[in-house]
Amino acid sequence: MDVEAFARRLPKAELHLHIEGTLEPELMLRLARRNKLKLRFPDVEAVRRAYRFQGLQSFLDIYYEGAAVLRTQRDFHDLAWAYFGRAAKDGVRHAELFFDPQTHTQRGVALGEVVEGLEAAMTRARRELGVTSKLILCFLRHLSEEAAQATFSQARPYLDRIAAVGLDSSEKGHPPRKFERVFARARSEGLLAVAHAGEEGPPGYVEEALDLLKVRRVDHGVRCAEKPALVERLAREGVPLTVCPLSNVKLKVFPDLARHNLKALLSRGVRVTLNSDDPAYFGGYVLDNYVAAARALALSPLHLWTLARNSIEASFLSGQEKRALVGDIMKVGAAYEDADPPRRPRRAARSRRS
Ligand code: ADE
Ligand code: ZN
Repeated sequence: MDVEAFARRLPKAELHLHIEGTLEPELMLRLARRNKLKLRFPDVEAVRRAYRFQGLQSFLDIYYEGAAVLRTQRDFHDLAWAYFGRAAKDGVRHAELFFDPQTHTQRGVALGEVVEGLEAAMTRARRELGVTSKLILCFLRHLSEEAAQATFSQARPYLDRIAAVGLDSSEKGHPPRKFERVFARARSEGLLAVAHAGEEGPPGYVEEALDLLKVRRVDHGVRCAEKPALVERLAREGVPLTVCPLSNVKLKVFPDLARHNLKALLSRGVRVTLNSDDPAYFGGYVLDNYVAAARALALSPLHLWTLARNSIEASFLSGQEKRALVGDIMKVGAAYEDADPPRRPRRAARSRRS
């Protein structure tokens, strides 16, 4: 069985996915036409040509520009529905979607348009594709704490539809501690917490995310490797990292995939999961990330199986839902072993001494 077929068949959860980052150039142009907006790109090729990034900030500039075509509930539905179609084909059974309310409310789009549109696609995905999902409301860290507090107040009518809060956008110079109070408020309202940390920011940001924001998972987190005691802590405490290999190469966190540290982190006992981050911008959806990482780092079927299992266990699904999906992962592992049994080392021929 080839890597792609095996990785596709593994039931997976995608836990680090910015729904605005799934906006393919074709849909961007279609929504611009529908909403009578002028883009600086004449066609799809021109949009794709602009996707050369020097780092996180140069990506974010174009990502916020693209997101400006999203205006109505229908736009958000169409965006998420297109993602779910792709995810289902990749063997994703559960997805936890980040969305950035401030990117939209700053442009005068009501939060209700965003949430209702996403929710309509989520309901359809569960019914028509068998893919479950949850929403994670992210605060933009380049904006102020007061802006994050105001956003959380605006989100109050929708809190029953939101599983967690997150923290994204420009990392350097915007440490997690800036958002300690709004995260405490969200947790006191029963929401879970995650945060981007250790993508471009230092290992200390990962520690702040754990200690001050009390996150259940760290998004990216790969710069933890610069502090061995932190790697040991992540492994000991079972903190999942939502790693995004293709994103990390596109944004120059690693020079190429062969030098990515995800395999080393796995071998040190860290609960690594694989995800696509902003797939329309980084050249691949979640299955592409599994396959590219497997090829570049010589990941074994057992590695892939472990990554898929980690993704289910690190999700915010209930214990019962996780057990059902892990059961399905076990079956795929067993079928693989039947089709392609691991070669046992041949017993050394007994030396016949005369
Ligand atoms: N927003 C969308 N993608 C992001 C990333 N990789 N890091 C920080 N903020 C983001
Ligand atoms: Zn991200």
